[in-house]
Amino acid sequence: MPEEQKKFYITTPIYYVNDKPHIGHAYTTIAADVLARLHRQLGDDTWFLTGTDEHGAKIEAAAKKAGKNPQEFVDEVSAKYSLTWDQLGIAPDDFIRTTEDRHKKSVAIFLNNLKNSGKVYGGDYEGLYCVGHEAFIKESDLVDGVCPEHKTKPEKIKEKNWFFKLSDYQNILKEKIEKDEILIQPNTRKNEVLSFINQGLEDIAISRPNVKWGIPIPWDIDQTTYVWVEALFNYCSAVGYGIDQEKFQKYWPADLHMMGKEIIKFHCIIWPALLLAIEIEPPKRVFANGFFTVAGQKISKTIGNVIDPNDWVAKYGADAVRYFLLREVPFGEDGDVSEEKLKSRYNSDLANGLGNLFSRITNMVEKFLDGDVELTKSPRDLSEVSEAFYNLDFSHGLEVAWETVAWADGLIDKAKPWELHKTEPKKVKELLINLVAVLSELALKLSPIMPDAANKIREALEQEKITKPSAPLFPKID
Ligand code: ME8
Ligand code: MG
Repeated sequence: MPEEQKKFYITTPIYYVNDKPHIGHAYTTIAADVLARLHRQLGDDTWFLTGTDEHGAKIEAAAKKAGKNPQEFVDEVSAKYSLTWDQLGIAPDDFIRTTEDRHKKSVAIFLNNLKNSGKVYGGDYEGLYCVGHEAFIKESDLVDGVCPEHKTKPEKIKEKNWFFKLSDYQNILKEKIEKDEILIQPNTRKNEVLSFINQGLEDIAISRPNVKWGIPIPWDIDQTTYVWVEALFNYCSAVGYGIDQEKFQKYWPADLHMMGKEIIKFHCIIWPALLLAIEIEPPKRVFANGFFTVAGQKISKTIGNVIDPNDWVAKYGADAVRYFLLREVPFGEDGDVSEEKLKSRYNSDLANGLGNLFSRITNMVEKFLDGDVELTKSPRDLSEVSEAFYNLDFSHGLEVAWETVAWADGLIDKAKPWELHKTEPKKVKELLINLVAVLSELALKLSPIMPDAANKIREALEQEKITKPSAPLFPKID
């Protein structure tokens, strides 16, 4: 890990407010929060952005279905997102909403600059549009006449649009991605993007004439901006593009865009091309997480398996949910989660694992040393834990951390301090000093993942007199 102070600008997707958040949305946002906390711990000038994507036909339709006007509707759903993040211990430095004035202003400046670049032209479009995707879709992508993901029939569209010459960026994007100037991870995603580019890039529509709920095109106010184009721009508008130049200079380019694997083409092709057109540096790095299924099935309202992260937090606590999601599936891969799996990991790893170790150690320190222990340097090196987190290999970092939990438990079982203290009080003291030091170091390393529990452990161990806490850190749940 680098030593010098740097800035670290990290983002999540801005989520659609057609519905409240589920654990898939929580997953990417928790991972970004962990990285932000880690980078703050390392002393980096960190800026963590998340937010909500509030315009476009999909949101307009969801508001209509809810019988609300769009602004009222998006206000409500966006608030659910920020409350949920709060419940999960997610602490962004900024939360952008695309219906905010600061975003609209910044997008207007961007669009004018894009127009002036000479890469925008007017034309006719005829094709199919999937509102679920908020994207044009090819006839060949359909299965039995419907979008295979959303199971809906796309709209047949014939309209005038403004277009962006994406096709001009084929070679330069290819080069930047191949050279990792735009680093795309995991590597499978990089290959996916490159093979897509190699098939040839077509120009894209950047406006919609018949969508009212959107940001007007500054030179043609009868059209609104294609929602993906303005949504992507949130990463720039949030740090003051065109408005607060100092802030923008400070944080741009983004160091890391986090997202799910389904939206990498938008982020690795359209997004850098738009930036290159307005002579702004592309983002440095994109990391795509895999997709969760729940008990083997795609997360879907129709199937009825959508999990509200607030329900899990209410039952197991934020730290446990954060731990579980990052421990259960290697980051970057697809995987399956369920409440059964959460409960089982909660009881084995947290209640019987870390939580139990904490009460064992504090209990013995209170009993055998009257609470008196000086905090020393950990005899066990735990740098691999933070290094794994730094490289987004959360599950590995947690595995290594829990090897230390098992090691400490084993040490206690073998030494049997409850017997040993009668004959060799010095040895018991030495052992407990070491255990307190290891546990404190472990809590420090785990604090980006489980800030609350880590805080409790460290506070307890920093007391003048250590006493066994009155309640278990992670009470067992049947
Ligand atoms: O795509 N497993 O928003 P969105 C893992 N507004 N991650 C999941 C997931 C799952 N099953 N489901 C969702 C949009 N996610 C656009 C983004 S950005 C300029 C605009 C996470 O509400 C994952 O991060 O559909 C995915 O990319 C994101 O939610 C999509 O959220
Ligand atoms: Mg989606």
